[in-house]
Parts: sequence; structure tokens; C-alpha cells
Amino acid sequence: MFVTATEGTSPLLACLCRMLLGLWLVIAPGLGMAVEVPVTPKKILIFGGNGFMGTRTSELLIDAGHDLTLVNRGNWYWDSAFTVKPYTRHITCDRAQAIEKCLKLEEFLNNSEGLDAVIDFSAYHPQYMEDALSLLTGKVGLYIYISTDSVYEVCEKNHTEPSLETDAVRPSSPDRQAELEATDSYGHYKLACEEVLARHRREGSGPPYISLRLPDVVGPRDSTYRWWIYQLWMRLRHFLEKDVIVPAKVLNQPISLAYVEDVAQTIFQLVQSRNKYESSYSPEGPPLDQAYNLALHETPTLYELLKDIRHELNLTDSITIKTDGGHETIKLYPSVHAGPMNISKAVKLLGWSPTNYSTVVKDTVEFYEKAISTVHFDDPRRYMIRTMQTYFTSKPYDVIRGLGEVYQVYFGQRRDEL
Ligand SMILES: *[C@@H]1O[C@H](CO)[C@@H](O)[C@H](O)[C@H]1NC(C)=O
Ligand SMILES: *[C@@H]1O[C@H](CO)[C@@H](O)[C@H](O)[C@H]1NC(C)=O
Ligand SMILES: *[C@@H]1O[C@H](CO)[C@@H](O)[C@H](O)[C@H]1NC(C)=O
Ligand SMILES: *[C@@H]1O[C@H](CO)[C@@H](O)[C@H](O)[C@H]1NC(C)=O
Ligand SMILES: *[C@@H]1O[C@H](CO)[C@@H](O)[C@H](O)[C@H]1NC(C)=O
Repeated sequence: MFVTATEGTSPLLACLCRMLLGLWLVIAPGLGMAVEVPVTPKKILIFGGNGFMGTRTSELLIDAGHDLTLVNRGNWYWDSAFTVKPYTRHITCDRAQAIEKCLKLEEFLNNSEGLDAVIDFSAYHPQYMEDALSLLTGKVGLYIYISTDSVYEVCEKNHTEPSLETDAVRPSSPDRQAELEATDSYGHYKLACEEVLARHRREGSGPPYISLRLPDVVGPRDSTYRWWIYQLWMRLRHFLEKDVIVPAKVLNQPISLAYVEDVAQTIFQLVQSRNKYESSYSPEGPPLDQAYNLALHETPTLYELLKDIRHELNLTDSITIKTDGGHETIKLYPSVHAGPMNISKAVKLLGWSPTNYSTVVKDTVEFYEKAISTVHFDDPRRYMIRTMQTYFTSKPYDVIRGLGEVYQVYFGQRRDEL
């Protein structure tokens, strides 16, 4: 079903509004702070840079005056078309295709003397990493790879504590390896990417690197929409058919989460501290060529997280969260079985100091409460409405009615598609 926003604004006004908002969003972060423009802007190549973590990271780097080249398929998520795209060089490239097809990237690299840093948000297959490294040999000061806690899914911990970086070792038995790969191909491929980086480095051709292993990341502009789905589910509960449910099997499972702002700030700091023409970090810099777990200190269960979102929405007395759904299992967190991560290494060596959990919940809820009535988030809003209509009720119009009553935003059915 198609749903379109009709909020009483003319298309022209809406368009103007978007432009102004885009400008404001770019300028605003710099207004209050004395941002020091570096003497020499750093040259940074970003694979991705238009998604959830990438957009926020790009914004920080743009604000600091760096020279960004983004390589991606050209989908601009949320408002990245306004806050990122105009301030960066863009190369359209689909990494699922052979790298030879990406002539623009090759040409760009042929003509560039070197890159201070590469930030890779989009390597999901070892071939993507091989391709990138084949073009980048000898040209990169630091390669920051955005990895995942799913790598622990294809390894076998010999303890039951939170996962340590050293736990990412595949089992020695090839049969067992294959078995685990089959259960989590995402984790398998992401670990394979880390392994490619490490091998190139060992063999002397690869750049210095850092892999950041991230759990489920939360915060504004999540392009997986998971948090927002839970939030809107609770907000519209009385207009939907499905109960809010936590599946019994994850009831007591603690979850590692990371906050998008903390992740972006950490990547930003890593890039700031690196210069292609320095032979190494200053002694107090973090050790390179390794992986770091990043997550919040707190590890709530899904039940606790939903209760905290509900509390922030002032719905504690009116919405019930059920803890046994029978066969009904909508479960969006966590995406792993291996449990939370131990972050003591990043705390000690990267100065990782994440935002506290209650602030994360408060700020994230606040963002999505506003997002539903933000005109320039039209695509995400439509996606959310379709999701509610498809999975949470058999009466699509109730979703529209609920949005009107709860948020005073009015969406009309499009009538010109007969
Ligand atoms: C890049 O440089 C290599 C080596 O000089 C050359 O073979 C290749 O054609 C160049 N690629 C492009 C797209 O200019
Ligand atoms: C557990 O695994 C780690 C990493 O694979 C290894 O260094 C350690 O010796 C193992 N400990 C035991 C008790 O087997
Ligand atoms: C919840 O209540 C507080 C205090 O009355 C208010 O400031 C806040 O905006 C409310 N939140 C929502 C989502 O309604
Ligand atoms: C994390 O690992 C460190 C170092 O191995 C250990 O001292 C600490 O107790 C662990 N923390 C948790 C919460 O498991
Ligand atoms: C979390 O951080 C906020 C802002 O820094 C602070 O006001 C609040 O007291 C902290 N909450 C907890 C539980 O530490």
C-alpha cells in the first residue's frame, strides 16, 4: 500500500523547508563549538558514509574541514543527501561487482598521492576487502574497518563471560568451522574481512589497521529502523492488533549495544590522530593492527530496554509488555547468541568512554518522537508506516488513524494511482 504525506504544505514550501533544514543541520553543530580547522585537511576515503554510522561520522569529519571521498551505491539514507553529499566527492560503486568496473575509483586513486585514512563501513565479503586493498596498496595511513560482534558467532568461546577480542578464533576442526559458518554467514564474512586485512598486513603489503567490533548500534537515523519499530509499536499499540512481546528465550539475555554518536566520535578521533606521512602513532596512540570491542557499559535485556523506552514514552501505565509470545516472535534485538562483549580493552587503549545508557534511551526516544513529524524524513516515515501496516495489524487504515490521534500527523492515501 502506498501512503503519502499531506501535511498542508505546498510542494514548493516543503522543498524550501528541506533545503533550509539541510543547511541548518550542517551548520548547527559548528555554531556553539570553536571547531579548529586543521592546517592541512586530511584526505579520507570512506566506503559507505551515507548510512547510519557513516552519516554521523562523515558529518563530524566535514565539520572539521577534512577532504572526504565517499564510495557507495548512491543511496542517500535519512538526510545524508543534505548533510553529507554536498560536502564530499562521490564515487558511485557497487562493491558486489568486480572492482574493475569501478573505474572512477581507480582513476581517483591513480591521481591521488595518498590517503590519511580509509574508513570501511561496507565490506561484507572478503572479496570486497581484497579488491579494496589491491587498489590501495602503499597509499593508506590507517584503515579503519567497521566489524561486528557477529564474528564471535562463528568462533567458540571457552568461557561464559562477555566476549574478549581474543575469542575471535575459528575452531580448528574444518567441519565445526563450516557448521558455524552456516549458522551465521554474516559473522563468517565479516570475520573473513578482518582476516584479509590481517593477512595483507602480515605479508607487508597491507595498511596499518584497526577493526572496530560493534554490537547492535542504536541512536538517531538508524537505517535498520529496529528501535523505531519498537517505539512506534508501543506508541500505536491501541491502534494495532499485535501485543508488544519479548520472546521467552531471550528474556534474561543481556545485550551489548553501542550508541551511534560514541562510535562516530571514536572513528573521528582515530582519524584525527593519524597522518599518512607519520611513520607511526605517537607512543600514547592506540596499538594498531588489532580489533577492539565497542559497546555501552550497560547490558540491558530486551525486556529492560523495552520497559525503559516505554517509561520514556510515559506509557508505563497503559501498555503491557508480554513475555511469552508463543509462536509470535518479532524479535529485533539482539542479533547475536554469543552474549555481550567485554569492552575493557577499548576503555584502556582507545579511551572509549561511552554515553550512559539512560541518556542513550532518552535521546533516542526523543529523536524518533520528532522524526515522525519531520517532513524531510519522508522516506523513513513511509517505511515505518508500511512496516506497521504489514506486520502489526490487518487494518492498515488504523495505523493512519493512530498517527493522527497520537502525533497529530495526517497521512492521506494516494488517490492518483488508479
Ligand atoms: C591507473 O593506473 C594504472 C597503472 O598506471 C593503469 O594501468 C590504469 O589504467 C589506470 N586506471 C585508470 C582508470 O586510469
Ligand atoms: C581459551 O581460548 C583462548 C583463545 O582462543 C586461549 O588463549 C586460552 O588459552 C584458552 N583457555 C583455555 C582455558 O583453554
Ligand atoms: C513524558 O512526560 C514528560 C513530563 O511530563 C514530558 O516532558 C515528556 O515530553 C513526555 N514524553 C512524551 C514522549 O510524551
Ligand atoms: C573484561 O576483561 C577484563 C580483562 O580480561 C577482566 O578483568 C574483566 O573482569 C572483564 N569484565 C567483564 C565484565 O567480564
Ligand atoms: C548519565 O549522563 C547524564 C548526562 O551526562 C547525567 O546527567 C546522568 O546523571 C547520568 N546518569 C547516570 C545513571 O549515570
